[in-house]
Amino acid sequence: MRISDLFRTASFRLAVLFAFAVTAATTVIFVFIYWHVATFDVRRVGVRLSDEVARAAAEPDDQLRRQLRRRLASDLRKLDYVGLFDARGKSVFGNVAALPEGLPIDGAPHPIEVAPLGGGSGTEPALLAARQRPNGGVVLIGRSLYEVYALRRLVIRALALGVAPTILSALIIGLIFSLRTVKRLRSINEAILRIIQGDLQDRLPVGPWKDDVDNIASGVNLMLDEIVRLLDQIKSVSDNIAHDLRAPLSITRMSLERGLAAPAEKDLRAAANRALAELDRALTTVTALLRISEIELGRRRHEFVPVDLAEVCATAFELYEPLAEAKSISFTLDAGRPVPLSGDHDLLVEAVANLIDNALKFGPENGVVCVSASVVSGRAEVAVCDNGPGVDPSESGEIFKRFYRSKSARSIPGTGLGLNLAATIFSLHGLDLKVADNHPGARFVASQRLPASS
Ligand SMILES: Nc1ncnc2c1ncn2[C@@H]1O[C@H](COP(=O)(O)OP(=O)(O)O)[C@@H](O)[C@H]1O
Ligand SMILES: [Mg+2]
Repeated sequence: MRISDLFRTASFRLAVLFAFAVTAATTVIFVFIYWHVATFDVRRVGVRLSDEVARAAAEPDDQLRRQLRRRLASDLRKLDYVGLFDARGKSVFGNVAALPEGLPIDGAPHPIEVAPLGGGSGTEPALLAARQRPNGGVVLIGRSLYEVYALRRLVIRALALGVAPTILSALIIGLIFSLRTVKRLRSINEAILRIIQGDLQDRLPVGPWKDDVDNIASGVNLMLDEIVRLLDQIKSVSDNIAHDLRAPLSITRMSLERGLAAPAEKDLRAAANRALAELDRALTTVTALLRISEIELGRRRHEFVPVDLAEVCATAFELYEPLAEAKSISFTLDAGRPVPLSGDHDLLVEAVANLIDNALKFGPENGVVCVSASVVSGRAEVAVCDNGPGVDPSESGEIFKRFYRSKSARSIPGTGLGLNLAATIFSLHGLDLKVADNHPGARFVASQRLPASS
């Protein structure tokens, strides 16, 4: 991995941004503290000094000396400057030997370098205010700025010492995070490449942190699971289609071959009829498959109009009455009240017809088949029941899959597509198709789904 790759990562840029933000915030705080220490405090002391010196200048000599003496006695930290000078500028009292050069005698505070109070060499900063007295002398009051200046230096040092490590540690943390991110993204990238190259069983690595990258990786893994499942489904459907078309096509081919080889024309005709019947079977399968995908695409939803499910059941019922009669089945319809729904009338008839077809086909001769449409708890419901062999609970989910036919049904003609078609049509209309035990027999019920909000 190149170092430039690292600098390009979002986490590193974020770390740099963070370092800048922290530096800016720290600087603002320090600038405020500095301003308070350096300016605000000095100004406050200055105001007090000019007040004091104004008052002192007006005091009589002995009283002023007493006050100044008291002031010096209570100044344990040796911060106060006090001086009384006669008209010629000679010191007559206080701890300031001579009037500092350059100090205006105007009663206002001025920062000035003076000899340190505690003795010693050099000078130290102080704020001094001097004022003329009525006797011609001068009174001087001041305060050392030594502590203030020391505090200023401390603030500047703290700022320098605080900001540099902050920037450095933010950058180091950023680098560590970037390294981690780059490593994770690289392993994800490698997994994606393996998947693109055809290893559909591979999955993106998901760490234990459950952070946003992990969440995305888990989402992609779920998507891959679903894609694999769908691919398997498509494969099994296409296998089934091939299998289901192969039987009628090979029977057709065989019949025609035999017919052509037979000497009599009547044998040829019989073979042609047989071939025709098998081709019809193949066509039924293909037509049903095409219908299912057409309906699944929902192309007809925009053609929905108000329909009455009771009337739909009656239409399907009439279609199958002759067949029921031929099998001596007691065939009843219970759809006296309108069951309004928005939908496609012909598709719904096709769905109900498929359920009736199964009931008549799998039910015994002299059996019982009933068809009903009703509104239950405000929801439309269609039911078709029989007293045939029923559906084993282990198969109650399977029978709705394409081409699924239970073992017991394989002697009875069929494609295994009818229930899938019916379920798809009902689903398009917001109805769920389920099978229950009819004690004995099967009871297929399609009932309207509850609205998503409730
Ligand atoms: N009324 C029923 N009674 C018993 N089994 C049924 C009934 N309806 C459907 N089945 C089972 O469900 C399977 C799928 O039904 P369907 O999709 O209509 O296919 P087909 O009718 O072509 O067999 C049937 O093969 C059968 O095993
Ligand atoms: Mg069927």
